Amino acid sequence: MIPSVLPTYNRAPLTFVKGEGAWLTEADGRRFLDLGAGIAVNALGHAHPALVAALTEQAHALWHVSNLYNIPQQQALADKLVEHTFADTVFFTNSGTESCELAVKMARKYFYDKGQAEKVEIITFDGSFHGRSSAGIAAAGSEKMTKGFGPLLPGFVHLTFGDLDGVTNAINENTAAIMIEPVQGEGGIRPVPDAELKALRQICDDNGLLLILDEVQCGVGRTGKLFAHEWAGITPDIMMVAKGIGGGFPLGAVLATEEAASGMTAGTHGSTYGGNPLGCAVGCAVIDQVATPAFLEGVNRKAGLLRQKLEGLIADHPEVFEEVRGSGLMLGLKCKPTNIDVVNAGYDNEVITVPAADNVIRLLPPLTLTEDDIAQAMIRLDKAAAQVENAMASA
Ligand SMILES: Cc1ncc(COP(=O)(O)O)c(C=O)c1O
Repeated sequence: MIPSVLPTYNRAPLTFVKGEGAWLTEADGRRFLDLGAGIAVNALGHAHPALVAALTEQAHALWHVSNLYNIPQQQALADKLVEHTFADTVFFTNSGTESCELAVKMARKYFYDKGQAEKVEIITFDGSFHGRSSAGIAAAGSEKMTKGFGPLLPGFVHLTFGDLDGVTNAINENTAAIMIEPVQGEGGIRPVPDAELKALRQICDDNGLLLILDEVQCGVGRTGKLFAHEWAGITPDIMMVAKGIGGGFPLGAVLATEEAASGMTAGTHGSTYGGNPLGCAVGCAVIDQVATPAFLEGVNRKAGLLRQKLEGLIADHPEVFEEVRGSGLMLGLKCKPTNIDVVNAGYDNEVITVPAADNVIRLLPPLTLTEDDIAQAMIRLDKAAAQVENAMASA
């Protein structure tokens, strides 16, 4: 009999009942160090006092009103994002997938309104992940996500990650945009080198294309800048955001320049919940914490420390780990044994990591991780690696 919850997930046998900072408590009382943060969602950890206060204060005042009316919290969050980024305007969604939907619509509508309705094609890259909607899976294009769900939304051109010549060759009169994650998350923590992001920006400028950056996983302070593309010194035309911006409350956003957003006039897009008072009150509290030089400096300092210690872990366990890669507190450990075995050994030793493609385990801890937490992370990852080594030796 089918379970009452549609069985689309392979769930670990863990039930968390409470969270505080970087720690989760299991129903049986065990405390787990959370290096996954709900896959880069709990940017400020669990039960951050500023977020709890923002949520409860707003909950006592007003949960929801329709976008038919003014929403001051939405206005405040949009103003903050415009102040801190390249963007001139923001649309709020509930998830990264919905941000992908709007990014695609916005790019196509831009060219349609310019009298270039043939420009609908969006170039994407293998290993990418842009969500599970029809547009999201068509954008990523991998068989794993698309098989059985055809016919797919047309208009995506899939290229090899890192193939800049391929990009130039793929551009034709129908090309509208290039869509890319500055650091691939699900694809196995694969950062796009700064020089390559710069080159993509240049290719877009030279060919009159829009650059769409998917910062759903790598944005909101995760790499040590408010948004990852800042490291490359470029700006996109359109940017997809979600996950960290709500700190655990379902919230996403599409940020855009005035020019790129010019086709999105009244009636062209909408959302019942997107940008509602509760979500935006929390979003404001997140941005107030994260978008400060001191907070981002802290992320970079902790990221440097964690990465250095992970290099030591690899040196101690060369049979388990091949390399560490990534940016800021978005790190991947490439494994030699199956990554799931390493994640499971982590569970046995009360540390949570997240599997990704390319046999990688992801470390996406709360950005509020403390140095004590890092010390605990190393003790637990070391025990997990030793457990995997023992299992390999006795196999
Ligand atoms: C880069 C990226 N884009 C889009 C998405 C989809 O976001 P959501 O699951 O919130 O719909 C994800 C989710 O993992 C992601 O990592």
